[in-house]
Amino acid sequence: MTDLESAVAALETARRTTLTLTDVDEAELTAQHSPLMSPLVWDLAHVGQQEEQWLLQAGDPDRSPVFPPAVACLYDAFEHPRATRTQLPLLDAAASRRALAEVRGRVLDALAGLGPDASLFAAGMVAQHEHQHDETMFATHGLRTGEPLLHAVPTPAGRPLPADAVLVPAGPFPLGADPRTEPWALDNEFPQHEVDVPAFRIGRVPVTNGEWAGFVAAGGYDDPRLWTTVGWAHRVAAGLRAPMTWEPDGAGGWTERRFGARQPVSPAEPVQHVDLHEAQAYARWAGARLPTEVEWEKACVWDAAAGRRRRWPWGEEPATARRANLGGGALGPAQVGAYPDGASPCGAEQMIGDVWEWTSSVFAPWPGFSPMLYDTYSEPFFDGTYTVLRGGSWATAADAVRPSFRNWDYPVRRQVFTGLRLAWDA
Ligand SMILES: [Fe+2]
Repeated sequence: MTDLESAVAALETARRTTLTLTDVDEAELTAQHSPLMSPLVWDLAHVGQQEEQWLLQAGDPDRSPVFPPAVACLYDAFEHPRATRTQLPLLDAAASRRALAEVRGRVLDALAGLGPDASLFAAGMVAQHEHQHDETMFATHGLRTGEPLLHAVPTPAGRPLPADAVLVPAGPFPLGADPRTEPWALDNEFPQHEVDVPAFRIGRVPVTNGEWAGFVAAGGYDDPRLWTTVGWAHRVAAGLRAPMTWEPDGAGGWTERRFGARQPVSPAEPVQHVDLHEAQAYARWAGARLPTEVEWEKACVWDAAAGRRRRWPWGEEPATARRANLGGGALGPAQVGAYPDGASPCGAEQMIGDVWEWTSSVFAPWPGFSPMLYDTYSEPFFDGTYTVLRGGSWATAADAVRPSFRNWDYPVRRQVFTGLRLAWDA
């Protein structure tokens, strides 16, 4: 594909997901299932408003806007916290869909008129932005109760694996995105720079529900020695007893609420919906720790034998359904062992897709950071209060994640599809 074809394909893939996730009745579109989430109808119009802002206004500030300023400002994420968005005079669903289609039509015309050397970074950025909101909308759907509105596409079966760790030998590697191979990498992934990393071991696969149930049964939620001081205070104040979606099944086991349905917890799937404090307590209970984000990235891409970085864990080729669980269709993580073809050079599996993995790293700029066009994407979040998550989840689009991709959230958040992988000093 040419760069233009890739950009258009990414925009269209994102739009198909957006329209699927918002193909629900008005009551569902305007419902707020948690103060941490927007009503779906806000996300729907917001992606179009941002697309117009980044891809059209910059080109021609004089043309008549699809989102006039008085409407556009309703979709300013910094102006309006999520908890307040249901009170805004938002566009209804039909008006939102019309606006999205109008913006997209103008954008495709504008892209078609670009010269062969024009940068398509802004289009890639906007496609990734819409994909990120699609993932957020999957999370909103995940919090619903009542009849399921989404239906899962099966993932490959897992395979038995030793509950072991793989070694990542000591030595330097280039951390961050290579602009020659990653034209859509975002500002916080640059500049690529060499980092020396001591040897460490990392879990072959993410921590599973079965393992997490063992932690709960062993009293992990009742033992303050396993928790950091801040983590224990939060565990008590929030009354945490298990991952966010788990409920006892009445027979000593667990069920999980997923997209409106309640089902038995699958022991072979990676655990999801745990916060950083829970992840740290689990790791201490298991005699391990969380990886730093630098360790995580090295385990994901560094081919020590060849002395070079791969583009993806499995090689240079793009993600496929045999390599990673991405794109949202599965509505949940695949069992561990489901993706032998997706293994990284050190033997770690399922690093891309399935669950976002908590790291021990606070979100901060790489040395030499400079903000991109969307200059408030990263920089306002470098205040030391956010922790880095890596690898994408089952709800992340392949166009919106890379081994260098850095996500971040507050340590107490668990409505995101968050899990963990353990690490140890070697
Ligand atoms: Fe946004």
